[in-house]
Amino acid sequence: SARTPDRLRSPIVCILGHVDTGKTKILDKIRKTNVQDGEAGGITQQIGATFFPLDAVKRETSKLAAGRALSHDIPALLIIDTPGHESFTNLRSRGSSLCDIAILVVDIMHGLEPQTMESIQLLKQRKTPFIVALNKVDRLYDWKAKPMTPVIDALPAQKKHVQDEFKRRLEETKVAFAEVGFNSEVYWDNDDVRSHVSLVPTSAISGEGIPDLLYLLVSLTQKLMSDRLMWTSHLECTLLEVKVIEGLGTTIDVILTGGTLKEGDTIVVCGLDGAIVTTVRALLTPHPMKEMRVKGQYVRHASIEAAQGIKISADGLDRAVAGTQLLITEDGGSEEELDLLRVEV
Ligand code: GTP
Ligand code: MG
Ligand code: NA
Repeated sequence: SARTPDRLRSPIVCILGHVDTGKTKILDKIRKTNVQDGEAGGITQQIGATFFPLDAVKRETSKLAAGRALSHDIPALLIIDTPGHESFTNLRSRGSSLCDIAILVVDIMHGLEPQTMESIQLLKQRKTPFIVALNKVDRLYDWKAKPMTPVIDALPAQKKHVQDEFKRRLEETKVAFAEVGFNSEVYWDNDDVRSHVSLVPTSAISGEGIPDLLYLLVSLTQKLMSDRLMWTSHLECTLLEVKVIEGLGTTIDVILTGGTLKEGDTIVVCGLDGAIVTTVRALLTPHPMKEMRVKGQYVRHASIEAAQGIKISADGLDRAVAGTQLLITEDGGSEEELDLLRVEV
């Protein structure tokens, strides 16, 4: 399939980390939503996806971008939220397998925890670049909130003993990362992003560091992976969830990581009883900056390009299998293609 050198797709960013480090809250802060408040027990139990158009990202990073030459070649960021609870290893694995870059969230008061370690192993296995959000800096004793301020401005504005506690915890974190084989450095001192993981102090409550985190994602994806992000027409699409929606029947939530999907396309989906060949009736997305896993209004599209989280409405999806790939076919699927999809149960 043809690659288009001067055109990039949206990078897919996966948020990983130990339970309750603030993954969903960080996204809530950027989206200006309250998804985390609505979660049963405050625990994420599904993979989520949110589309952030570049205009919104530019708005949030404007204080940092002033005077710096940052090109904006990517159309958007698609951010995948994952659960941190120990029982959801399969979802962390699935989420990390979809992404181009990850944000590993660490609670600065707790350091590296068991599912932090598990996440690091997943990232290592796949050689996925990542940055670290050192979250909950507002919990450093005596921290004075500077809402939504770049942390490069918010940290120097703190009292000396607050800055000292920060430095101590930062050093402990760097030692802990070194013990699992990663050089790391706070992002403003990181001169080599290829050999050193960038650490970004953040607060998902008051918002310090959130502009820095977004700025780094945009600059790193463009700097490190413009080749990987080059647009191609090759379809890559993963099925996340099978859901019954009132008025639509059984739908599937998918992440489109490559290519284009259109209404009316014939798709082939893995089913418990073999391949399901069906026609896309509707392609639906949440509004930009809204979480896909939360019920809400959908936007209908005639066609959608990667990367996006999409709800597909079509007949015959009842026994579709999550975690599998979706194919598109012009002739209803060759025997070879269908064989590939036949699953053992
Ligand atoms: P799981 O998805 O269940 O793994 O949790 P999570 O990593 O998404 O964390 P979540 O967003 O659910 O936040 C967990 C708790 O920490 C909530 O009570 C949040 O309000 C709180 N929290 C998250 N970020 C911060 C922060 O930056 N500062 C403070 N003080 N509390 C935070
Ligand atoms: Mg969460
Ligand atoms: Na939580």
